[in-house]
Amino acid sequence: MDDKHIQILKDLGYDLGPEHMTNDYWKKRAADALAITTQDRDVYGCLDHTQGDGVRIYDIEGTEYLDVTGGVAVRAFGLRYKPFLDFEDSISDVVKEFPGMDFDAIPQTLLAEKLSTMTPGTHKKRVVFTTSGGRAVEGCMKSAMDLSGKRRFVGFRPAFHGRTGYAMALTATNSKHKSGYPQGVDVVRVFYPYCYRCPYGQKEEDCNRECVEALRYALQVEGNDIAATVMEPICGEGGLIVPPAKAVQGMYKVSKEFGAYFMSDEVQAGMGRSGKWCTVENHDVVPDFISMAKALGGGYPMGASIGPVPMFTGASRHSETFSAEPKMALLSLWTIKHIEDLGILKQNVEKGEYMRERLNELVDKHEVVGDTRGIGLMNGIEIVTDKRSKEKAPKIRDLIVKTAVNKHKLWMLGCGPNTIRFTPSYIITTENIDEAMGRLDKAILDSL
Ligand SMILES: Cc1ncc(COP(=O)(O)O)c(C=O)c1O
Repeated sequence: MDDKHIQILKDLGYDLGPEHMTNDYWKKRAADALAITTQDRDVYGCLDHTQGDGVRIYDIEGTEYLDVTGGVAVRAFGLRYKPFLDFEDSISDVVKEFPGMDFDAIPQTLLAEKLSTMTPGTHKKRVVFTTSGGRAVEGCMKSAMDLSGKRRFVGFRPAFHGRTGYAMALTATNSKHKSGYPQGVDVVRVFYPYCYRCPYGQKEEDCNRECVEALRYALQVEGNDIAATVMEPICGEGGLIVPPAKAVQGMYKVSKEFGAYFMSDEVQAGMGRSGKWCTVENHDVVPDFISMAKALGGGYPMGASIGPVPMFTGASRHSETFSAEPKMALLSLWTIKHIEDLGILKQNVEKGEYMRERLNELVDKHEVVGDTRGIGLMNGIEIVTDKRSKEKAPKIRDLIVKTAVNKHKLWMLGCGPNTIRFTPSYIITTENIDEAMGRLDKAILDSL
């Protein structure tokens, strides 16, 4: 960290010097001050908030890493993207916040109109803004309950929709997230379509959409008063699982047979990552509800619940203080326009194909890399003890991630019990992908 930023901290009352700029020092202070981290502090250094350039991220000791997490799918354009910073500077005089659910302002209305037209389906939609993905999911859930008068949902196993009340009730990736907390809504749960490990023991060639029939059966025997089926178009946190389009279409169809809404949770997979604004478009399904967040806010916390008119049966049926504040809404509009202007959707498809080609080379080379899957720039590899048994190998996965980060300076994350995920910023180049694959290859070799 340079003198200017050390001085800023000093001016804020913190007497810090260059001698305090070590990972160990800050990890210790963080562990003492912060109640929770979801990751292992042995693996990751303390990030330097004053540095970063595209896909290059730095820890407080100045170590440079190649980032393939994109801030867990938040950073569409990477760190400190110059055109974004220039636009942000140009609107520095704009009022930063208004209570958007209480009073109207132009930016949030324009953003709501834009989201309505860029998301699948030509039907009339409405939008509620929020500050996180979990709340974007919950806005849709409340709307589905309000419009249908029903209270129950269909959810999947695994599935991740957030950690707050209703969203947590839908989530099923790790018992730690749920145990001991009351579950806010009733969920009829069925297996997520997971062809590499089909829960019904089928091979893709013999598949009769048993997973879809399981949903039909569940609704027949468990009750079918369902407000909505809530599905991730790619199961992200649960293990980067890509469902076949036919299965998603089947889930949609069965939901409709029973009069339920269908909702696509696009918080992680949406905003163009898959080459379409919403990943569910790759499955040829037009959902009733869509939740978005992460990259939507251009790096600031913003989510959106998008649903059918009128969404709520009356004023004040739902609200929160923050709602697409003027500055954030302008940054979001800029992000969307820049993706359009640069033809990023098409590029994400091409770069994603290239990334999967390179990941497939790792499947060919290493016995422990069992499967590659993904759409666009949302990809993963599953780590197993060997290809024949497909036994999940969480310890090897953890070691690969730790070795990649600590030794080979590849900033990456796992997901699910034994998957490694890649959700890089859209500005990643094929050269960056080659570099990432080289580092990952070495990390795998070191971990065997
Ligand atoms: C699909 C999906 N939905 C919802 C969420 C929750 O988002 P947030 O952490 O912003 O509440 C996530 C977070 O990773 C997600 O991946």
